[in-house]
Amino acid sequence: MRLVLTDRFGRVHDYLRISVTDRCNLRCLYCMPEEGVQFMESSELLSYDQIVEVVQAAAAMGIRKLRITGGEPLVRPGLPGLIERLSAIEGIEDIALTTNGILLAKQADALKKAGLSRVNISLDTLDAARFRFIARRGDLRKVMEGIEAAFAAGFSPIKLNCVLLKGVNEDEIADFLKLAYEQPLHVRFIEYMPIGHEDEGWRSHYLPLSRVLDIAGEQGYRIKRRELVKGNGPSDDWQMEGGTGSFGLIHPISDHFCASCNRLRLTADGSIKPCLYWVDELNVKPALGDEEALRALLLRAMDVKPVSHEMAAKLAGQAVSHQPTDRRMSQIGG
Ligand code: GTP
Ligand code: 5AD
Ligand code: SF4
Repeated sequence: MRLVLTDRFGRVHDYLRISVTDRCNLRCLYCMPEEGVQFMESSELLSYDQIVEVVQAAAAMGIRKLRITGGEPLVRPGLPGLIERLSAIEGIEDIALTTNGILLAKQADALKKAGLSRVNISLDTLDAARFRFIARRGDLRKVMEGIEAAFAAGFSPIKLNCVLLKGVNEDEIADFLKLAYEQPLHVRFIEYMPIGHEDEGWRSHYLPLSRVLDIAGEQGYRIKRRELVKGNGPSDDWQMEGGTGSFGLIHPISDHFCASCNRLRLTADGSIKPCLYWVDELNVKPALGDEEALRALLLRAMDVKPVSHEMAAKLAGQAVSHQPTDRRMSQIGG
């Protein structure tokens, strides 16, 4: 049996993103509708024992890096316990977390002690009123306290994820660049990607990230590319001469990174998603308790993984033969 997760296009997979819940304490406008979605029943969620079992099989096939996502992962109780168990699995070298930061201040120390290596914190605005507009709930101050707690706990690097939306927060690009210049933070600007819903309006808020480089120039920063900041994802990283931190660009639309895709996803209800964008999924539940069956399922995921997402396929003039997913971003974990 093949022991490396290589797909039909030669892409080797060593990164698994694990969503532990589809629930979230915010309702960010690009991620979840204001009224929420039909949440999974807790009986549908993989237990921590089951997640550990899947990761053991995946690690035996070359998965080395894990990222815990949600919804908001910190709303699920006992997360440090899961991280401690995952970090003990042979072959796992890096465990990171993507969080909205609201509950991070309370848990940062325990997460660090459990073996979490890194945190990425979503932050789309530095303005408290605008935070309420974008996130529809919660309090910017809590996120800031979370970032401070992440520093105090010793996480490094600390990355901020800022989804840029034209007409919503594009006027803060200069402020975020200043933050990255002054603080030891890595700010990642992200292009909005429409996932899991008909979104005829998305183009009106879409902002190509070349805008960030233009503004960096206008602000007088001398920028140059830098080697990747420790991470496993698609960020294209830049440094400002004399700056303390740095920034990155994640552009799934204007310059997609599907050709170097190295990741699989595990949803909270137990589906392996070979690609964020498409409907194709393989549920692990029937294979639990049988490591051979789990490995076979991971190999099947390699055989059905498409070459790229739909916008990329259309741009390349390829026929689109799969269906887009009907899961929202919050039900996949980004
Ligand atoms: P690092 O390991 O620190 O590089 O993290 P990451 O960038 O892999 O993870 P994070 O959860 O912080 O995701 C940042 C942004 O990248 C989010 O907007 C994700 O939706 C997006 N992203 C991550 N992986 C993919 C992917 O495979 N395809 C697409 N289109 N977007 C992705
Ligand atoms: N497009 C791009 N990024 C998104 N995220 C959530 N929804 C979207 C979207 N539609 C980001 C979040 C978080 C990460 C997991 O994905 O801001 O940082
Ligand atoms: Fe990989 Fe799909 Fe993301 Fe492209 S859109 S990088 S193929 S998961």
